[in-house]
Amino acid sequence: IQRDSRFKELNSDDVKFFKDLLGSESAVIDGVNQDALSDLEGFNADWMKKYRGKAKLVLKPDSTEQVSKILKYCNDNLLAVNPQGGNTGLVGGSVPVFDEIILNLSRMNKIRSFDDVSGVFVADAGVILEAADNHLAEHSHIFPLDLGAKGSCQIGGNVATNAGGLRLLRYGSMHGNILGIEAVLPDGTVVDDLSKLRKNNTGYDLKQLFIGGEGTIGIITAISILCPRRSQAVNVAYFGLESYEKVQEAFKEAKHQLGEILSAFELMDHRSQALYNKATGARLPLEAEHPFYCLIETSGSNTDHDSEKLNSFLEHVMGEEIVSDGVVAENETQAQNLWQCREGISEASQHFGGVYKYDLSIPLPELYSLVDACRDRMNEAGLLSADDESKPVLDVLGYGHMGDSNLHLNVSVRRYNKEVEKALEPWVYEWVSKRSGSISAEHGLGLAKKEFIGYSRSETMVRLMKQIKQLYDPNGIMNPYKYI
Ligand code: FAD
Ligand code: MLT
Ligand code: ZN
Repeated sequence: IQRDSRFKELNSDDVKFFKDLLGSESAVIDGVNQDALSDLEGFNADWMKKYRGKAKLVLKPDSTEQVSKILKYCNDNLLAVNPQGGNTGLVGGSVPVFDEIILNLSRMNKIRSFDDVSGVFVADAGVILEAADNHLAEHSHIFPLDLGAKGSCQIGGNVATNAGGLRLLRYGSMHGNILGIEAVLPDGTVVDDLSKLRKNNTGYDLKQLFIGGEGTIGIITAISILCPRRSQAVNVAYFGLESYEKVQEAFKEAKHQLGEILSAFELMDHRSQALYNKATGARLPLEAEHPFYCLIETSGSNTDHDSEKLNSFLEHVMGEEIVSDGVVAENETQAQNLWQCREGISEASQHFGGVYKYDLSIPLPELYSLVDACRDRMNEAGLLSADDESKPVLDVLGYGHMGDSNLHLNVSVRRYNKEVEKALEPWVYEWVSKRSGSISAEHGLGLAKKEFIGYSRSETMVRLMKQIKQLYDPNGIMNPYKYI
C-alpha cells in the first residue's frame, strides 16, 4: 500500500495548534519539530513487533472536549488519525501505517460512576481493564471481560475490538453488555449515548457500530457497561486428555454437569504448553505429557455446592476415561498458576522471535484439524524445524476458547519471513471459509485481515459496511488503510 496523498503532512503550525489545545507538555510527543524517534517508538510499534508506523506526533487528550477539538481540526485539515488504547491489539490496527497522528487515550482514565444495585459501571475509555476490574472487586462485582492483556489494554480498546476473552461463554460479548457509549465523530460531533438502560428499543442501536468498529468511524471516549456480581466460589481445574475427541466429550459433559456454574472452558495443545514451559521455565501442572489440556473454571455462589459438583464431574470424566489426569487448584495462588499456563501462551508464542497469529471461529468437530493440517503444510514446505536454526518456523500451536468454538492457531517463528507468510495466507482463510467459519473471531481485522474479509463476509455486506464508513467518516481520516 501507498500513503494516501490526500492526507496533509504535519507542519509546525499544526503542532502548535495541538500544543496550545492540550496545554500540558506531557500530552504531546512532538517528532515534527525535533528528533523524538525513541519517544515515539513504543507508540509506533505493535505488541508483536510485526507492524511499525511512522507517526511523528502522539496526542494524549484528557477530556472528551479535547478529543472533539482534535478531530475537528484533523478533519478540516485532512490529517489522518490512528486511535490508540493500550496498544495490545494483535492485528496491526493500533499503530499507524504511515504518518497518521496517534491519538492515545491513556490520559482519559477516570472512573465516572458505579451503582451496586443495577451493576452499571461508567468510565472513561482509557481506564485499564485491570483497574476497572479492581475497582469493581471492591464492590463485589466483576468486569464481564477478562483477557491476558488486562494489565495494559484499555476498556475503550476492548469495546473498539469487541474483545472476547476468557469468560465469554459465561458473560457474553461486549455487544450484549455495553449499555451506552460516548464517542466523538471525525467532524468533532460528540455522540452522547451513555445510557444506563438495560432496555431501549427506540430506533437503530447505533452504539453497536462502535463496538468492534476498531476506531474507523469515531473515537470512543467513555462506556457504560452492565457488570455481574463477583462469584464467591471460584474453582479452577486443569486436566490432560489423550485426543481431541476426548476434549469434545469433556466439553459436552462440563456443560451437562456444571452448566450454570461453568465460567470458562479453555483448550491448550501439548505444544503450546511445552513452549510456555520453555519460554518461562514454569513447571507444568501435570507430570506426564498429554496431547491436550483443558482448563475449566466454575463460578458460583456456594463453595460446598460448587466443589461437590466439580468433584463429581471429575470423578465421572476420569471414571469414563474421558480425562486422563487432572488437578484442582486448592487456593488462589494455585488457581492463578493454572490460569497462567493458559494466559502465558501469547507471550511464549513470540518469545523466540515472532508469531503468525490466526484467530478463527471453526465449527467444533473440525476445530483442531486445522492445526495438524497447518503443521503438515509447514513441514512439506520445508519451513519447520524444532532444532534447525536455519528454518524460520519453530513450532505450530493450537489453543483457544473451546467454549466459544474459537481456535488460536499460532505459527511461532524465529524471524518474520515472507515465505512462511505466503504459505499461510490465504491458505488458512480458505480452509476456514470452506467450513463456514470466521477469519476473525475476536481480534478484529486491523491491517492484517483487511484484504481477506471476503472469506467471511459477502459482497453485499462489505458494500453496506463501506456505506457506513462513508457516512460517519466521509474524509476517511479515521484509522485509514485498515478494516474494510
Ligand atoms: P489497542 O490495541 O490500542 O487498539 C485496538 C484497536 O482499537 C485499534 O484499531 C485502535 O485504533 C482501536 N481503539 C483503541 N481504543 C479506541 C477508542 N477509545 N476508540 C476507538 N477506537 C479505539 N483479544 C481477545 O478478544 N481475547 C483475548 O483473550 C485476548 N487476549 C490477549 C492477550 C494478550 C497477551 C494480548 C497482547 C492481546 C490479547 N487480545 C485478546 C487482543 C485484544 O484485542 C486486545 O488486548 C484489546 O482488546 C485491545 O485493547 P487496547 O486498549 O490495547 O487497544
Ligand atoms: C488468547 O486467547 O490468549 C488471545 O486471544 C491472545 C492470543 O491469541 O495470543
Ligand atoms: Zn483469545
